[in-house]
Amino acid sequence: MPLINKTCQFVEQQLAGDGSGHDWWHIHRVWNLAKNIAEQEGANLLIVELSALLHDIADWKFHDGDESKGPQMAEHFLIENQVDRDVIDPVIEIIATLSYKGAGVATPMKTLEGKVVQDADRLDAIGAMGIARTFAYGGHKNRLMYHPDEKPVLHQSFADYKKNTGHTINHFYEKLLLLKDRMNTASAKQMAEGRHQFMQTYLDQFYEEWDGKA
Ligand code: NI
Repeated sequence: MPLINKTCQFVEQQLAGDGSGHDWWHIHRVWNLAKNIAEQEGANLLIVELSALLHDIADWKFHDGDESKGPQMAEHFLIENQVDRDVIDPVIEIIATLSYKGAGVATPMKTLEGKVVQDADRLDAIGAMGIARTFAYGGHKNRLMYHPDEKPVLHQSFADYKKNTGHTINHFYEKLLLLKDRMNTASAKQMAEGRHQFMQTYLDQFYEEWDGKA
């Protein structure tokens, strides 16, 4: 079986039953976005596709904050499938450095392929998809949708961001609305505009309805 198909099968199996917004279809959307951006930006497609498919294989949010689990599982899978070392190394480097770690924490990507996959993952965290996933994740964590007295916190360290238990609307201000300006590539920046606008409109309507004004 071709490597990409095999990787899809492996990831789908690993993430089966996830109800937190990190399910197979998140991976599938990120994979499509990443391919689209990679073509526009001229990035290495094999590295981009493998990184996109494997990027959430063991997310720190679901392994008691253990960030080394994902890269380890990905490396193991790629070695088992006789992938070249010069593909494995950049892929696991991307998976290890990709994720958002708080408003005040920089997460720069070294390679064009890393920039592309990080952009794809961040695009799926905003817009209509981002809204749906954020509420799904909040429900998964038993969080309130909103509390008018609790203000957002712009986390300055990854440790603080990880401990965060605030309501879901705060998450828009702590992450989602900041992502547009953190896109790496020109193609993703352009796609982020529309998604960002949509979230602003959504929040305006949310507050209107909350106050019984709309
Ligand atoms: Ni992801």
